[in-house]
Amino acid sequence: MIPRVYIFDTTLRDGEQSPGVSLSMAEKLEIAKALEALQVDIIEAGFPVSSPGDFEGVKTVAETVKDVQVAALARANFKDIDVAWEAIKKASSPRIHTFIATSDIHLQHKLRKTREEVLEMAVEAVKYAKKYTPFVEFSAEDATRSEWNYLAQVVTAVIKAGATTVNIPDTVGYTVPQEYYDLIKFLVDSLKEHDLYHLVEEGKVVFSVHCHNDLGLAVANSLSALLAGARQVECTINGLGERAGNAALEEIVMTLKVRGDFFEKTIGHRLETRVKTNRIVPTSQLVANLTGMFVQPNKAIVGANAFAHESGIHQHGVIMHRGTYEIMDPQEVGWTGSAIVLGKHSGRHAVRFKLESRGWRLTPEQLSKIFERFRAEVKDVLRAIQDEYLEGVLLDEFLAQDYRYQVTSAYVSSIYGAPLQPVAQIEILDRLSGTHKAVTVGIGSVDAAFKAVARALDYRFVTPEGPVSGEKELRLVDFHIDSVGKGTEALGVCAVVIEDHQGRRTAGLGKDDDIVAAGIKALINALNRLEAFRAKGEELRQKLAASYEERGIIKG
Ligand code: KIV
Ligand code: ZN
Repeated sequence: MIPRVYIFDTTLRDGEQSPGVSLSMAEKLEIAKALEALQVDIIEAGFPVSSPGDFEGVKTVAETVKDVQVAALARANFKDIDVAWEAIKKASSPRIHTFIATSDIHLQHKLRKTREEVLEMAVEAVKYAKKYTPFVEFSAEDATRSEWNYLAQVVTAVIKAGATTVNIPDTVGYTVPQEYYDLIKFLVDSLKEHDLYHLVEEGKVVFSVHCHNDLGLAVANSLSALLAGARQVECTINGLGERAGNAALEEIVMTLKVRGDFFEKTIGHRLETRVKTNRIVPTSQLVANLTGMFVQPNKAIVGANAFAHESGIHQHGVIMHRGTYEIMDPQEVGWTGSAIVLGKHSGRHAVRFKLESRGWRLTPEQLSKIFERFRAEVKDVLRAIQDEYLEGVLLDEFLAQDYRYQVTSAYVSSIYGAPLQPVAQIEILDRLSGTHKAVTVGIGSVDAAFKAVARALDYRFVTPEGPVSGEKELRLVDFHIDSVGKGTEALGVCAVVIEDHQGRRTAGLGKDDDIVAAGIKALINALNRLEAFRAKGEELRQKLAASYEERGIIKG
């Protein structure tokens, strides 16, 4: 049996059938290009007869992507097949995917046809599609609830009619791994008595699996089928799809890669795909953003927490040797940045690791001080913090005496109802240049307050996407307000991250009974840290490194 597994991506067809998902033409094309770059083997671009929009979507994808086969879905009738062909005929490699249900429940209640009639329709559809293209896939919808001998009869007949791929869908997500294994094995073996088995062995006919996730078994079932001889997996990015979704592409591909040893031991060889695994996360994020179907944080491979270690023991382990708690390298699937997430469970090792990765070398005593400050700040206030906050704690420890700005008074109004706008008046003492005042209006009271701070100190906030040019321009990259405690008397906490023209990010934190005052404090804190770093940051970094080396902690 061939060692190659074909990845048939149906994000644009079965995935797009998810409730609430509707992609524009441009969005479909963007996803198709991402799938081509990911190097899936086949993109199922849609079901052309289902709507003019679907037809156009399939046609545009077929005419654009080159290095991937494009499939169009068609029921087992001539009209569907004609329309499907019309949509994909200009593809560099076009595949017609025709299907009809084979389970008695579908035959009796949906199709109202006999088994014989369905068998004939399947064969006729394959023969008809074959006139258009050599690449014809047949799917026996609801295969896993079909009678096995009848299903084998259909499979044999469509292969004889010319199908090059035979798909055995678990349409309602009903099967379990062992049963699915047995079914695929039974179907593959049943070809022996018709002298067709060699076609599967040589890879001229491919058994395909298409699993839905109603019992959460779609990936497990698909992998089990591969052990039994299937060589195509139909799947979607992020497991998107009807109801509970389809098998998740990223989980299939990474299991084959990470557990190649298991497949080798079990079937005598590894199973390879051609997927560029470092494109997985960017593709996942693109699909999530365009479909609005966001991925749960603990989703395997592509969830935000999939490689995040927050507990002290795990962080220590991963810093010492990644393999202690990670079975794959996050970069291998396209994650960038660090997997160590600072939070209230983080230990000293993680804090040191984070600071060192930003160039700060600390003696154990210095680290202890920073760690205690960090613990106090992170404890109830910020549940998980970005690295910038940790560096801010370090700047507070060593450079607070250099902080320039202090708010001496502020008044901010709140407005309920148009047409008035909130006003902020602020007075700030700059140790270097004296007292500055400003009055501004804003969209809300926090907006008014931030604008007043910026105007008083001669800073300017650029738009979220705009370029930041010059020392006085800043971008607000993160802003969030929270409360600690319960009820209206809870403490307001505000956290901000600003970015300067050199791309340097600085965080600030503010706490106050008044939520707007907490916001002003956070911004002033960030500006103080930024200016102190600009004035003395490098000098401090070198001083700390020198004292570190002097203590003989690191040599060379
Ligand atoms: O789930 C299913 O059976 C399908 C077929 C059309 C392949 O999506
Ligand atoms: Zn499906």
